[in-house]
Amino acid sequence: MAPTATAEAPAPAPTAASVLAKKLAVREKNEDGSPLYPDYMPFYDPLETVEDLGYFDHYDPGHRADPNYPNLLANATKVVDLSPHVGTEVEGVQISRLTPAGLDELALLAAKRGALVFRNQDFRDLGFDAQKKIVSHFGPLHVHGWAPHPAAGSPEHMVIYDHKEDLRVRKSWRGRSPVQWHTDQSPEPQPPGTSFICMLESPTAAGGDTLVSSSVAAFKGLSPRFRKRLEGLTAIHSNNDGVTQELKNNGAGAVMRRKELIQEHPVVLVHPVTKEKALYVNPVYTKKIVGFDEEESDYLLKFLFDHIAKRQDFQCRIRYEAGTVLVWDQRITHHSQTLDYPAGERRHAFRLTPLANKPIPALVEQDDGECQRDEARVQLNLC
Ligand SMILES: [Fe+2]
Repeated sequence: MAPTATAEAPAPAPTAASVLAKKLAVREKNEDGSPLYPDYMPFYDPLETVEDLGYFDHYDPGHRADPNYPNLLANATKVVDLSPHVGTEVEGVQISRLTPAGLDELALLAAKRGALVFRNQDFRDLGFDAQKKIVSHFGPLHVHGWAPHPAAGSPEHMVIYDHKEDLRVRKSWRGRSPVQWHTDQSPEPQPPGTSFICMLESPTAAGGDTLVSSSVAAFKGLSPRFRKRLEGLTAIHSNNDGVTQELKNNGAGAVMRRKELIQEHPVVLVHPVTKEKALYVNPVYTKKIVGFDEEESDYLLKFLFDHIAKRQDFQCRIRYEAGTVLVWDQRITHHSQTLDYPAGERRHAFRLTPLANKPIPALVEQDDGECQRDEARVQLNLC
């Protein structure tokens, strides 16, 4: 006869799956599924227009910085490099409390390390005006040609939003890889410098990271003779693919705030503060090497784009939670989204993007002893 079940039966032993479910760290979410930051929901106005800023004087704050970082790092509890060539995480510092001298030092450290990560920032709760005041320290704020901003205004706040109720971004990547290395808005006459992403809400468990690559290391990773061949070249940058995509995806609802941008920039630029040379081409916006025939240009650009994408030894990966702020220098890095989390999950952030100097070309020099200064190459008899 089968035993009778009683109310005192012992609880089943925990399974591996249930232990994992209890231990797995999940990110901040509202229980009812509503967004953590409703004031930053994306707003699309197809009738909105914005005038181009044109050329302006730029003096990089990094020029004024104390290279010992007393105003930025005096209260830091930990500073961890994420990889040898790019990315540093700083603990114990609130960006909102930095003085102008501290912000100058932030520009310098971003120019040296490419990308800086600050977690648990109250920056997310400061409101539009205070956020813009801090980031304007680095240059006039860019307004994107078609990306959304919050409904309450502030067109400089570029909202990054993906969720099952608004799949506009995810659909724009339908049928192609969402990993696309680029520097934001390189077709601007004076493209972005020290830029900010503030994460408001991340996918539940993992995903939505930003990949960052050092374009200084990418340039140094080429042979000295090849580097010399690249210096002095210029390339055409255009956002016409983005404009076409926006019109195709959204038809009458497409946002066309600004005219199409086309600009010629040096293939190798020099950072105004550190004087480091960096590769300044990217597969999203760079269309053609000036003066090369089409096949030659395609061949060279394909090599450079592959070089940027493949060299994971020049890269790091930025993981976010609500309140993480990424500060990065777009003149010396490439980056990409990942879009690797389950479709329908919410990822919500905003970007504030100061424009900076007109790219400074690296000049062709006869023999500047560059190879002899590269210890690794000297040791391997590569000069
Ligand atoms: Fe980007």
